[in-house]
Amino acid sequence: MNPITISNLSVEQDSLSMDGVNLVKLAEEYGTPLYVFSEKRLRQNVREILDTFRRFHPKTNLHYASKAETTLGVLQVIHDEGSMLEVNSGGELFKGIQSGFPGEEIVFNGVGKTKEELEFAIRRNIKAIIVDSPFELDRLIRVAKRIGKPANVMLRIVPEVSTNVVKGDETGTHETKFGISTDELDGCVQAVLHEKETLRLVGLHFHIGTQTYNLASFVAAFRVLLETAIRIYKKTGYRPAILDIGGGLPVPHYIDPAARQYMPENIYQMLRGALSVEQIAHAVTDEMKPQAVREWAGDLYANFFEDCELILESGRKVVADAAVVLSKVLSEKRRASLDEDWLVIDAGLHTMLEVKTYHWYFPIVCANKISKSHVRPFKIAGPLCESGDVWFDCDHHRDLPDFRMLPDSTTAGDWIAILVAGAYGTPLMTRYNGRPMAGALMIRNDGSVVMIREPETFETLLAGEKSLF
Ligand SMILES: Cc1ncc(COP(=O)(O)O)c(C=O)c1O
Repeated sequence: MNPITISNLSVEQDSLSMDGVNLVKLAEEYGTPLYVFSEKRLRQNVREILDTFRRFHPKTNLHYASKAETTLGVLQVIHDEGSMLEVNSGGELFKGIQSGFPGEEIVFNGVGKTKEELEFAIRRNIKAIIVDSPFELDRLIRVAKRIGKPANVMLRIVPEVSTNVVKGDETGTHETKFGISTDELDGCVQAVLHEKETLRLVGLHFHIGTQTYNLASFVAAFRVLLETAIRIYKKTGYRPAILDIGGGLPVPHYIDPAARQYMPENIYQMLRGALSVEQIAHAVTDEMKPQAVREWAGDLYANFFEDCELILESGRKVVADAAVVLSKVLSEKRRASLDEDWLVIDAGLHTMLEVKTYHWYFPIVCANKISKSHVRPFKIAGPLCESGDVWFDCDHHRDLPDFRMLPDSTTAGDWIAILVAGAYGTPLMTRYNGRPMAGALMIRNDGSVVMIREPETFETLLAGEKSLF
């Protein structure tokens, strides 16, 4: 499995290029660490999801999960390509609106929405506030009544489906903090329907986790949603207009197949992310077809879901392979007693998702020696004063490969490219250890390169702080 087969990456002379732009030159000109996004790839990803799902169920909409990447320029491209938006806070709602999404194209998730955030969302006439608990429903009713404006509501169910990935990435069982407990759902439905003047129940929602590699998990959760919808109809006569199946479409992280020998199989499969959009679209939409529904719900309900809008809240699949992070090798170290060679690079857990907590693997290559064989094993570390700031599993659980293969001559001053790095990257940056946050460029469709986020400077480290003396 060679990561350079990612469609918009290529090798030009000895350098890695993206959309025909030499990434080494960008690193030299703009400094590192540096995010580089591909407009072309962002657009292709949105198109792939929309076109594939619409082939199976024309009334499908993508609500891009903005938590995966919220830089204004990225949101603008995604909006321009026809995606709608999913947000998780007032801040994301604000950024979504600023980047051009109308309220009518936004759904709002989250376990801890404040009164102010709810008011903001209602005033913007958003498509749906996705209610996460009876407590929140009560709060929403009060806010909507106080401002005298009705709110559109979806209810987040707990399908009790585990995706068998790492616990921090699962959200579909009652052991997690997400969703309305099954025994409280009917009460919430009744309460929403009772508040006809204040609330409009537009649909039902679930999200079982990120990087869901197992098709059966999607299908099982969707089946629970469908069964719940029919059960509610039988009890109340309410028929949902929207079925929202959350995100979790997986992205291949091009993990070395040799890693399978020692890694836990579920983590290996998760990182491999081999399930295609087509497979998911096919299997999920099959479940709502009359032939399938008739089998378990009877003739009367066969066509129950035909007119429903299907919503996907994909985040990772839209942005992950649309960006690389460029980084510089700052220093080298030899641990002779262990026979280990180490490289310290300037990208670490302050630059993107911490790999240790989420057992995450990003392919890493030497961008300025890309055509040389990547045959020498190195341990790679970030620059922070933290033992956990490394690109392997420092707990030695063998959940990730310890070594990365780079050219034999890789040395301080070389440029490293961290691939498939566009999801859960810039939103997780910190200034820890006094390190200004990285900037981001976008390679536009016409080949021009535009800065979409300024790299921070030392001055930024003082921003907002007040001097005592
Ligand atoms: C409610 C909800 N929807 C969508 C997503 C996006 O998931 P992904 O980026 O895996 O598609 C998330 C993230 O976990 C989420 O919590």
